[in-house]
Amino acid sequence: MCGIIGYIGNKPAAPILVNGLKKLEYRGYDSSGIAVLENGKIDCIKSVGKIEQLKKKVDGRKKPPAGTLGIGHTRWATHGVPSDVNSHPHISRDGRFAIVHNGIIENFAELKTSLQKDGFVFKSETDSEAVAHMLQKLYDGDILSTLRRLIKTLVGSYAIGIVFSDAPDTMYAIRKDNPLIVGLGDGENFIASDVTAALDHTHEFVLLENYETAEITRDGVNYYDIDGNPLEKLPYRVNWDAAQAEKEGYPHFMLKEIYAQPKAITDTLRPRIKSGEVVLGELILDKKYVDGLEKIDIVGCGSAYHAGIVGKTFIEKHCRIRVTCELASEYIYGDPITDEKTLTIIISQSGETADTLNALRIAKARGSHTVAIVNVVESSIAREAHDVLYTYAGPEIAVATTKGYTTQVAALYLLGLHIAKIKGTVTDGRYTELVNGLLGLADGISSMLRNTDAIKDFAERYKNRRNVFFIGRGTDYAASLEGALKLKEISYIHAEAYASGELKHGTISLITKSTVTIALVTQRALYHKMESNIKAVKSRKGPVLAVASPANAAIADCADSLLTIPECDDDISPVLTAVVLQLFAYYVADARGCDIDKPRHLAKSVTVE
Ligand code: G6P
Repeated sequence: MCGIIGYIGNKPAAPILVNGLKKLEYRGYDSSGIAVLENGKIDCIKSVGKIEQLKKKVDGRKKPPAGTLGIGHTRWATHGVPSDVNSHPHISRDGRFAIVHNGIIENFAELKTSLQKDGFVFKSETDSEAVAHMLQKLYDGDILSTLRRLIKTLVGSYAIGIVFSDAPDTMYAIRKDNPLIVGLGDGENFIASDVTAALDHTHEFVLLENYETAEITRDGVNYYDIDGNPLEKLPYRVNWDAAQAEKEGYPHFMLKEIYAQPKAITDTLRPRIKSGEVVLGELILDKKYVDGLEKIDIVGCGSAYHAGIVGKTFIEKHCRIRVTCELASEYIYGDPITDEKTLTIIISQSGETADTLNALRIAKARGSHTVAIVNVVESSIAREAHDVLYTYAGPEIAVATTKGYTTQVAALYLLGLHIAKIKGTVTDGRYTELVNGLLGLADGISSMLRNTDAIKDFAERYKNRRNVFFIGRGTDYAASLEGALKLKEISYIHAEAYASGELKHGTISLITKSTVTIALVTQRALYHKMESNIKAVKSRKGPVLAVASPANAAIADCADSLLTIPECDDDISPVLTAVVLQLFAYYVADARGCDIDKPRHLAKSVTVE
């Protein structure tokens, strides 16, 4: 896996492909490559490392490729180390087929053995190379029937772009369980793994569904189902503009996205709060259904899971219903207990995370009603869930999520309030306080973003520490999980979140003068408990930074430093503390010279299990 772009038009394909791959860099990758068809021959250029290295190879050619049809790929290694030879495109033995592939071919070993018996020699360690050779082996003079037989042969997940040297005016694409879209231009068309790769050229897209084939020429596209029947498919429009996927003067996408949070939160909340009431017109959750609910399961991966934990705390408190929050990768193999009396909330920024998508399918198959909290419109999870609550965060490019996470938390608050109102588990007064609290979040974030010097100073002071603990209680503990993940992801410092009360049961043995503890203290009711926990850390000589609400600012007396967040309702403070912790991670990573937007080994959207 990682990113795919394909072009057919009247301009030289190579610069368009390289530019498209640059737009896909944010997904994380370790190598890249392009294949261009020119004068009946496929010319393939690949490079390990950054796209810049690929670009140098392309530009360094005495005669750069001039063909107007080609495919490109960024690779994030799954089978075989990052290397020139393992990167895509892969070419069939006879040189007539070039393919790029996202996903995993699960019957790769079988296919490889049978291909080897037929004399095919594998150059790479990848599963994807088998697809190129299979095309050659299956080719019967009719490419469409060959693709149908290929689909029937492959087991696993795939989005595949294909160039065939005998078809100089056509590009082909097939997919199963991995996103692939066709971009419609004027005299030119595209394939891509996500819209950002083609937004410079078009806003009209068609989503390829499982087992479908696209036959793409310069002037049109034909779609076929698995039996070769032609399909009518309607395009959809994406209103994100290409500039939204640019840095716009910020040194990193992550910083730009941190600063985009007031708008993202406003866009997510405002349209759904009308005259002081949360109105979620997009959901079918009526009183009869909500009253019959026995529990709610929240499922996600990474930061989406952490947003779920914040949501669990909020929903349990205000809706008086049992909520579990599970990692999607555990949920899918845990034989989950779920049925029509369970509401499943599936959280995913990209809407394509394989584990999360599988969890959604399992919950649905067992009768649960599913609500997806998703950012990317028309993504697989958005399309498959019964209901969707979109977060209007806009495109998120940095691998480490920021506005994706805080808008997920905001959406969970909306959902919690919606359910609490239906169930009558929150008083009118408290409901109004919370709604007003939500409406004040964007201003709170803006005021924090106006002066970040204290966070920067703190980051500078502790940037070389090897261990950082994040502690808190209740919703602060939930928020600290995301703080620790942010720091780990982008600065490579070991960080752990701990429920403050649990420190004494083991972890406190790790506290020394060189560990740093960041204590979240936003809960008035838990002030004294946090005070004791901080004192326990201090008495082991560990420096402590407290991140507190104004009401709890007196905690400064027992901490080494204090950062106060703006005034906000205790129950929704995680949106504000998240911003402090994002900035802390960002400045530490920056001071350490890390590759902030594309941290090592990480991918933005993990479409394999
Ligand atoms: C990857 C990203 C994380 C993200 C997780 C879930 O691991 O690196 O930042 O939280 O996937 O992504 P999703 O798109 O499902 O929210």
